[in-house]
Amino acid sequence: MTHLPNSLQARDIAHVLHPYTNLVKHEKAGPLVIERGKGIYVYDDSGKEYIEGMAGLWCAGLGFDEPALVDAAVEQMRKLPFYHTFGHKSAGPVIDLAEKLKSLSPVPVSKVFFVNSGSEANDTQMKFIWYYNNAIGRPKKKTILSRQRGYHGVTIASGSLTGLPANHRAFDLPIAGVKHVDCPHYYRNAEPGESEAEYTARLARNLDEFIQREGPDTVAAFFAEPVLGAGGVIVPPAGYYPAMQAVLRKYDILSVADEVICGFGRTGNVWGSQTLDYQPDLISCAKQLSSAYLPIAACLISEPVYEAIRDQSGTIGTFGHGFTYGGHPVSAAVALRTLQIYEERNIYAHVAAVAPHFQARLRRLADHPLVGEARGVGLIGAVELVANKTTRQNFDPAKAVGATCAAFAQEEGLIQRSLAGDALAFCPPMIITEGEIDEMFDRFERALARTEAWISAEGLRPAA
Ligand SMILES: Cc1ncc(COP(=O)(O)O)c(C=O)c1O
Repeated sequence: MTHLPNSLQARDIAHVLHPYTNLVKHEKAGPLVIERGKGIYVYDDSGKEYIEGMAGLWCAGLGFDEPALVDAAVEQMRKLPFYHTFGHKSAGPVIDLAEKLKSLSPVPVSKVFFVNSGSEANDTQMKFIWYYNNAIGRPKKKTILSRQRGYHGVTIASGSLTGLPANHRAFDLPIAGVKHVDCPHYYRNAEPGESEAEYTARLARNLDEFIQREGPDTVAAFFAEPVLGAGGVIVPPAGYYPAMQAVLRKYDILSVADEVICGFGRTGNVWGSQTLDYQPDLISCAKQLSSAYLPIAACLISEPVYEAIRDQSGTIGTFGHGFTYGGHPVSAAVALRTLQIYEERNIYAHVAAVAPHFQARLRRLADHPLVGEARGVGLIGAVELVANKTTRQNFDPAKAVGATCAAFAQEEGLIQRSLAGDALAFCPPMIITEGEIDEMFDRFERALARTEAWISAEGLRPAA
């Protein structure tokens, strides 16, 4: 594709380095430039409309034109556009937001620490955990467990927690001291004939054996997204978290919930941990915390962890951690307003009310010849495209079947993301109505039909 000289596309190619992009392809294809948004829709620079089927990056819960959030930002900007929380300083919105998050938390929380992104939140949790174990005289208890296909960010620590090859390969990750355990994906990983309960019991046994091999006194914490997001929208089987946590508690290993996607309504409850019966000691949240209108994320920590950190900082003289923009007053004011709107407009109840329709339309796709599994909970889901439904054989990744389907969807006016293993994700703004859910899946079904025709034309199905 050639772009007009001086067009936004040509200037983007010349000047912008894009995350999560094949940079070689980008030099030809250029970007889709989004200019404005309204509700669940966004519009490109030619005026074409798209349903934002991913709420951006699983984050714009209130859609793309919420004036109350703009007002909250402007008001705080006028009053105090910046302050920080270093060295005994604070600001009203930060205090209000911390108090609000504690009141919403599904488990008792002592303190809230603010950062700017999900990656920073998980990175910070790892540092808290190490500092905590040093403080209480367990300097060997440092290994952090997460799961294959888990996603926790891209910094050196959080990127190590992430269990996806593209985040490790050629980046020299993961770092030592981060280990990955089983991905709880029944469809892909269960043995033939194994029930969900047997599968869950096996994963808990594997975890126990893994910890035994590592040495229980060296394992500090387990990080988990209640529903794995970027790894393919994987909902663990019922009973999975209680079984895993029984093992973790036996060895005094902390549980961290990465609620960066699930938090604030996505699964039909305020927290994914509530939906999936997970009882963490520490919680990371971000994204829908501010409906993504400004960057803000938070670490919610328990009383024992807080007390140890407090005492250690007293001994050392300071708690030597913090980001310039952590607890930015404008971001905090917008987040606080977001949480108020979720309550005033009954957004959590709305998600619970429309989720059955969303899930019904999603699961209907399982009848399609290309769809191996349709899975999800609340207002999040994915379909996994397979070359053979009986054997569950994947397509050759080099053929980019998922990415091609996402490209057809984009032409049909639906923005989606293709994840590893040709899984196409759905995570629309939480304000979506039943009618808009139908429109979204209608557009996707047209894209799927075009993908099927393309696969036949290209002869991509392996011979049976
Ligand atoms: C579950 C989860 N944790 C952490 C992150 C990282 O967040 P950020 O991109 O804000 O660093 C993400 C981002 O998608 C996520 O989905």
